[in-house]
Amino acid sequence: MKKALDDLLKSLEETQSKFWNISRVTALFINTIVKEAGYKTALEIGTSNGYSGIWIAEALSHVDGHLYTMESHRKGRYSLGEENFKKSGLQKYITHILGHAPEAIPLFPETFDFIFLDATKEEYVEHFDALEGRIKKGGMIVADNLYSHPVPLKPFVDKIKSTPGWETCEIEIGTGLLIATKN
Ligand SMILES: C[S@@+](CC[C@H](N)C(=O)[O-])C[C@H]1O[C@@H](n2cnc3c(N)ncnc32)[C@H](O)[C@@H]1O
Repeated sequence: MKKALDDLLKSLEETQSKFWNISRVTALFINTIVKEAGYKTALEIGTSNGYSGIWIAEALSHVDGHLYTMESHRKGRYSLGEENFKKSGLQKYITHILGHAPEAIPLFPETFDFIFLDATKEEYVEHFDALEGRIKKGGMIVADNLYSHPVPLKPFVDKIKSTPGWETCEIEIGTGLLIATKN
């Protein structure tokens, strides 16, 4: 990773709790998964100020892939995300949408390799229903906050675990990740 990009990410880590960003170790883990799997098309629900999106876009930039990332909060977060994506130099790999999922989901391309859910936890079942058929075989959904928010995440976790064709595992890093792969 270029030094200027790492410096930007480190500066964003100083305000991590204010913008509910994932931890650096979680970000590095997600970046590695996306790179190693060779995923090309990703969707993130919950951009905040763009920290996790920059890590995902960095991974996608190696294969000329693309990240679609959605944020519903214009004033404090969408506009900051815009600024940070510009600063990252990765803008051409990112479509940043001001909108609320799942209503804004039809704006995105048909299918995805990778989806990162990091928004309002109670809405994940709705997102899964809207997106399940649009994830490619071998594709993946990663949801953050598995251990920090077990109660609001439970309906989603139960649903994906009981949906045929999906395999799940839990990763104990950061606030806990649920990894679900489509067979
Ligand atoms: C935990 S923060 C995301 C942090 C970001 N992924 C990171 O690690 O840098 C959650 C964000 O999701 C946004 N959000 C919540 N529900 C949403 C929805 N249904 N659609 C779009 N954005 C949503 C919130 O405004 C908030 O900025």
